[in-house]
Amino acid sequence: MKTEIVDASPAGIERAASLLDSGELVALPTETVYGLAADALDSNAVARIFAAKERPSFDPLILHLPGLDWLDRLTTASGDPLVQALAAAFWPGPLTLVLPRRPVIPDIVASGLPTVALRMSAHPVFRAVLDRHARPVAAPSANRFGRISPTTAAHVLEELDGRIPLILDGGPCAIGLESTVIAVHDGTLELLRAGPISTDAFAAHAPVFCTMAGAAIKAPGQLASHYAPRTPLQLLTHVAQADSWPAPPNTGLLAWSRSARPRQFSAMEILTPRNDPAEAAARLFAAMRRLDALGLDLIVAEPPPPSGLGAAILDRLKKASAPR
Ligand code: TXA
Ligand code: MG
Repeated sequence: MKTEIVDASPAGIERAASLLDSGELVALPTETVYGLAADALDSNAVARIFAAKERPSFDPLILHLPGLDWLDRLTTASGDPLVQALAAAFWPGPLTLVLPRRPVIPDIVASGLPTVALRMSAHPVFRAVLDRHARPVAAPSANRFGRISPTTAAHVLEELDGRIPLILDGGPCAIGLESTVIAVHDGTLELLRAGPISTDAFAAHAPVFCTMAGAAIKAPGQLASHYAPRTPLQLLTHVAQADSWPAPPNTGLLAWSRSARPRQFSAMEILTPRNDPAEAAARLFAAMRRLDALGLDLIVAEPPPPSGLGAAILDRLKKASAPR
């Protein structure tokens, strides 16, 4: 199969929507990362996502709503005041809510779980395609399983060339990190994946519990090794450590901010010259990909400041550095 990249013009949007209509896959930009979309209510179309990504069937997908009017058709919790409040505060945007699912959602989307992950993207191109398709789509990140999420159309091509017919190019993703995933329980919230919306933002609505280090894995985004470059990656505990460290040969540095770097590193990427976590988030996955393409023996990463968006970046770096 030939994979085409097309601009997100009205004609491109129309082509993407008609591919979705006929049960095909398309890669679409969202404000977080590129997603690999299929009609969520068509099991055969959704099965193609698992095949193209080589994703294990136990890892459930995120279902993206064309509009709020779909909420009640997809979950029995649409009347829950906490769900209403979160949807009003954060949708459209980088929040995914895990809620009890209705039978209209095929088992394959939810990997047989009684719950489903729901999100509404704010990206104008994504929304235009969903408006035209007029049905929800299932869309995980458009990378092969376990690899770095794509934040440009070119990254999607690196991951899925020959496996999907179309990539709609909406430019680089503004946020660059996958959505925050929250399970809504009886009046409390459970953080399943740290993301662009930090836990502080939810505290006004309900108590937030963080069970990510717990025994049972509820979201495979919680799997230790994820978002991983091919090159081994090690995470320093302090930013200044790279200065004094006699790094082994052929080592690259994923620097947080400062530019005065010791010569012993063969390559370097600076995540945020402005020392701004939002800038670092937007550049993180592209920088990891560039270092990964250099044939280094090791990548050493400096840690971000551990609060807010920094916590979500730290989560991705820890997963990239986990033993595989
Ligand atoms: O920003 C994003 O969320 C992107 C864009 C494309 O929307 N999507 C994304 O999807 O990151 P994916 O499939 O790579 O990650 C979805 C996460 C996984 O960790 C999955 O295990 C979790 O959501 N998840 C999905 N359904 C779930 C459920 N019913 N219960 C718990 N976790 C669930
Ligand atoms: Mg993913």
